[in-house]
Amino acid sequence: MVKVNLGGCDSFVKDADYKVYVGKALEALDVLNSGSGAGNDFLGWKHLPSETPESLVSECEDVRDCWKAKGVDLVVVIGIGGSYLGARCAIEALSHNFAKQLSGKKDAPEVVFAGNNLSEEYLAELMDLVAERNTATVVISKSGTTTEPAVAFRIVKEHIEKTYKDAAERIVAITDAKKGALKTLATQEGYKTFVVPDNVGGRYSVLTPVGLLPIVLAGFDVRAMLAGAREMEEACSVKSGENPAVKYAAMRNLLYSELGKKVEILVAYNPKLQYLGEWWKQLYGESEGKDQKGIFPASVNFTTDLHSMGQFIQEGERIMFETVVNVEKSNRSVVIGSDPQNLDQLNYLAGQHVEHCNAMAQLGTKLAHIDGGVPQLEVSIENLSAYNLGGLFQFFEYACGISAYVLGINPFNQPGVEAYKKNMFALLEKPGYEEQTKAIKERL
Ligand code: PA5
Repeated sequence: MVKVNLGGCDSFVKDADYKVYVGKALEALDVLNSGSGAGNDFLGWKHLPSETPESLVSECEDVRDCWKAKGVDLVVVIGIGGSYLGARCAIEALSHNFAKQLSGKKDAPEVVFAGNNLSEEYLAELMDLVAERNTATVVISKSGTTTEPAVAFRIVKEHIEKTYKDAAERIVAITDAKKGALKTLATQEGYKTFVVPDNVGGRYSVLTPVGLLPIVLAGFDVRAMLAGAREMEEACSVKSGENPAVKYAAMRNLLYSELGKKVEILVAYNPKLQYLGEWWKQLYGESEGKDQKGIFPASVNFTTDLHSMGQFIQEGERIMFETVVNVEKSNRSVVIGSDPQNLDQLNYLAGQHVEHCNAMAQLGTKLAHIDGGVPQLEVSIENLSAYNLGGLFQFFEYACGISAYVLGINPFNQPGVEAYKKNMFALLEKPGYEEQTKAIKERL
């Protein structure tokens, strides 16, 4: 269960103002629940947790088992943005920090990501790895035409085709049900395919095959993830001021609109959650940053970044609030020992769990940042598990829809993403862009 604690905002906001924003959030929730708002043809994500059939999970497991039988030990997951960040977030959050370095038999293949940048060095080095390993690939693109994954896929595909007789069985495509270049190629080559539903946008797609297949391949329990998401599907749709998504959406809009807090920093105290920050930034940035409006989403990892960004957050421009992802219990235990010399003067901590220090750092930072003028919201889960991660995905998606509607924004489109692509295609002299190429060259 995801819980929201707004106590860290008490000294900044008036209760009456918060109630006004809860009212606005409840109205927005009605719009989301009834499907009557802008972008309402992209609401498929709302019921993914309760409507995903068991057969889809089994199909993902069939791919896993088929590749296991072939001895595959490296899976290259190709995709960008919404076709990448959810899977990476879940896999990083659930993996052992040192899985790659640990010796011993691995139960699951290593999952690496590509197609999320255009760095030549990255791709060249990926191919160094691919050449040494027994490789398969999952290529994910809803449109089937995005440049970054298309470039990476062309290169990985060529290697697989040159290296393996069963090449087509080592490639899975996740794309539109009917249209797009990737769908056409998959049909032509006989690749196994999964569908990105028409009514689910990229950044809301982690609980479709876009996220589920890579997470299954990496060896994690998507049934538990869907169960956690189901709990939040229900909790976030209830018309109540206690609905956690309503609380979160109401407070962040109040801080933005009434207190001028234009930056929200998602804070985690566990390095495994770094990619939760990346996933969340896309979700909120792409959903809300439109019409010259929106809260700028940033993320940090504490205590690491307290030694880099801490100064600015404590004393820089007062434009931000924090949302801390609070993980109540550590899954592992390390106790600090006693040292007869005590040169580091840490004996006062002897017998304490490291997580106790982390919790005290978290509490101390909360108080310091509140004193420094940074309101703090807390989103808590009991521990880091597939179940709770599923809950967090559904919670943040629901809250994002509510929040954008409070702001008067369509949360489900991304018109601004096209601008750089048009320039890039013109500069690359893509056929069909002749006029834009001429115009852009004149500007340079
Ligand atoms: O949220 C979105 O819609 C985007 O981030 C897309 O997921 C991203 O651009 C990748 O698009 P596609 O899956 O069509 O390759």
